[in-house]
Parts: sequence; structure tokens; C-alpha cells
Amino acid sequence: MSNSLVIKGFNGERKLHGTVRTTGAKNAALKAIAATILFRDTVTLTNIPEINDVERLFELLKDMGAEVVHVKRGVYTVSIAKGFSTELTPGIARKMRASVVATGPVLARFGKVSFPHPGGCVIGSRPLDLFVDGFEKMGAKVTMNDGSYSVEAKGGLKGAEFFLKNQSVTVTETFMMAGVLAKGTTVIKNAAMEPEIEELAKFLNTCGAKISGAGTSTITIKGGKLLSGKGHPHKTMPDRIDAGSFLVLGALAARELHITHCNPLHLESPIAALRSAGVSIETKKSEIIVRAPSHLKAVDIKTHEYPGFPTDLQAPMTVFLTQAEGESKVFETIFEGRLNYTESLAAMGAQITMMDPHRVLVRGKSELYGRKLQSPDLRAGLAFVIAAVVAKGESVIHNVDTTIDRGYEDVDNRLRAIGVEVERISAIPEVITHA
Ligand code: EPZ
Repeated sequence: MSNSLVIKGFNGERKLHGTVRTTGAKNAALKAIAATILFRDTVTLTNIPEINDVERLFELLKDMGAEVVHVKRGVYTVSIAKGFSTELTPGIARKMRASVVATGPVLARFGKVSFPHPGGCVIGSRPLDLFVDGFEKMGAKVTMNDGSYSVEAKGGLKGAEFFLKNQSVTVTETFMMAGVLAKGTTVIKNAAMEPEIEELAKFLNTCGAKISGAGTSTITIKGGKLLSGKGHPHKTMPDRIDAGSFLVLGALAARELHITHCNPLHLESPIAALRSAGVSIETKKSEIIVRAPSHLKAVDIKTHEYPGFPTDLQAPMTVFLTQAEGESKVFETIFEGRLNYTESLAAMGAQITMMDPHRVLVRGKSELYGRKLQSPDLRAGLAFVIAAVVAKGESVIHNVDTTIDRGYEDVDNRLRAIGVEVERISAIPEVITHA
């Protein structure tokens, strides 16, 4: 049985209204949780989103020997007890690529770590070569056997300087954290500049780390001793992809939608794209107000590392472009498998042509019809929710518990609260083939 969402489409009517509260950021919270391995005492984390990926990472840390207390909704304390394991439990770590960020702190603190290859996923191969290369540059020896890695740094990690051939977010974060306990200075060049990285550095510096340049393409970390969380509870930043996903939904179907507890400054690229398509968007310090226009203009989208258009909003934006008049080109520059979901949108009536694995051409405006859909990953899954709201008739989206629930907290209640007609059911997902 899987969780499925049944959604009744509005057939293009703009009926959504009210307020949706942005949650704490999944891709910030997961790294703050991994960072607790760098601490000598108990760390308090707040505004943590109650989502499956967070639950899974806490499960991993507990299985490795951490003491985790779920104080109340969104608030956890973590302390690394004696005898903490240096092996990321394969059965848990393999289910979530993000667990790889824990390897840096474990290796830096204990001098060794072993972990499974977290495997690719529907969006792309997700290689680990930059992790292996970085560990070796910091003086560790990496061996790989039957799909898992063992890394050992006799005498501990040494600071190193390296240039990332791809601006990988998790590679940047893993080595920023590893540098905190390495001997000497670590310099990461061509580092990713996502706001979650800057946030992580601020958190670690408050607790005793010496990191400079986070948020720019060169990050310098002076190695030191274990950090202390005493007196420094960490509040997770707002989730810009959660806010951005509801922003796209509102741009298509809202009379007036207020997205609160967000940071509009982290969404400048999507806001600019939606405004150029004719969407009315008002921003305040921690709120976005969006109203859907009656006509939308086609715009070209090219995903790019921050501050460019985020790849995690590419699928919701492609749904938006099916409703814009004219031809839009979508160029997904980061992942080679992140446009496969468009086959399902075409089955709903969208006019989408795959030019190559990185590019599609969208012709609009096209009428969408409700369908039974399998959610392939959390972001395409949310895009299917948006398409279902816009469509004519009823849609059923399967695999919600293993995709959308990984990254969107309490999604059905938050959708219902702004007017979406949605029910969550337990269903056996039929095998759906799109003729
Ligand atoms: C982070 O993934 C996010 N995940 C992703 O969000 C996000 O889509 C991505 O950054 C890009 O913004 C988390 O932060 C947990 P990558 P990350 O696999 O950093 C290449 C979501 O939906 N690369 O490193 O893990 C890789 O091929 C998720 O919330 C190497 O070449 O992304 C790709 O081109 C999906 N070698 C680029 O880096 C390596 O060793 C980024 O991919 C590692 C990566």
C-alpha cells in the first residue's frame, strides 16, 4: 500500500486563497543534523521540518550511537555519545543520498568512516568522485568494495586546498564540516553558494568554528577543536523550495495567496521569471503575496547553481509554462535525468517535446486533464500536485509517502487550508503506462 493524493482539478479557475506557512528548510536541516557530530556536548536544533528525510537522518544517527531527543514539534536535541560508530548503517544511509554529508564530520572526528554508495536516483547518476578526491587530498586512504567505501585518515585529516569541478552543494558542505576538525587550513574553490551553505557556516562559527567565505565561491576553514552547542540553539532557515513550490501553485491558481515565514531574497530568480510571465508578486521581509493573472506569457528557463534558477523548482515551473501562451524552452543544466517526469505531463495533455536529456520545449497554453500518476521524486511529485490542481477532472498521485512526504511537511493539510480539494488515501498504485 502507498499513500496517494486524490485531487479535484479547478480546470484553470483561480480559486486558491489564504495563507500557507513556509517550513524550515530540508536542505539546511539535514546538514545541521549531520554537523552535530562535530560537537562535544548537546546541540539544540529548532524549526526542523517534520519530514521523512529528517526522520531518516535522525534514525541513522541514533543507530550509530547518538542520543536524540524529540523535544516537541520541530525541536530536537542531539548528543554524540561514547562509542559512536564510524559506519553509516547501510540499510538506512542507502535510502537517502543526503546522508553522505555525515561522512565528513565522522571522518574528521574519528579518523575513519565507512558508508554505502547512496546510489543514483531518478534525477541523475549522483556520482561520489568529488568526495573520494577530497578525502584523499586531506590525507585519507579510500578503498571501495562491493558498493561501499572505507575511508581512513591515520593521524587525522590535514587541511587541503581543492577546486571543485562541479559546484556540488553537499560536497561543499561535507568538506566545510571536515575542515572544522582538520589540522591546518582547508580552502574550497569553486564552492557552491547556496544560502543553506552560508547558514551552516554561521551556525558552526557561532559554536566555535573558523569558517570564512561561505556563500561565495571560495571558502576557507581554519581547523580547530570540537564545537560546543551550549547556549546556542540553532534555528533552521526557511525552506526556499517549499516557499517557491507554493509560489508557483499560487501563480497559476490563486486569487490571492500569502506565503509567510519565508525569505523572498532567496527566491529572486523564480520571482523574476514569474513576474516576466505576467504574475503579480508582492514581497515583504518574510512574506510573498501572489495573485494569478488571467493570461501568462511564455518564458525560457535555465537552471543554474545559486543564485540562478534552482533545479529543485524546475518541475513546478515547467507545469506553470504549460499554461503560458507561446513556446518556452526549459534547459536543466545540473541533472541529466530531471526531465523524465514530463512524459506524465504530456499524458495529462501538455504539449512538451524532449529535445535532449537536458532540454524540453513547452508549447502553451494547453488544457490539462486529471490522470492517475506515479510520483517519481519529491519535486516532480509536487509538480504533479500543481498540474492536478490546474487540470480538468480528478487526479490520483501515488507514492506520496516515499516522495513528496520526504521534503514537504504536512502537504495535504497545507494544500487543503488554501482551498485545494485534496484527500490522502492508502492505495495500491496501479502500473501506469502512458500510451
Ligand atoms: C543538493 O544536492 C540538494 N540536496 C538537491 O536537492 C539539489 O537539487 C542539488 O543540491 C542542486 O542544487 C541536498 O542538499 C540534500 P549533487 P547535491 O548530487 O549537492 C555533480 C531536493 O530535491 N557531482 O552533488 O547532493 C553531480 O553530477 C534535492 O531537495 C559530481 O560530479 O547535488 C551534479 O552535476 C534533489 N561528483 C552536481 O555535482 C560528486 O562527487 C550536483 O549534484 C558529486 C556531485
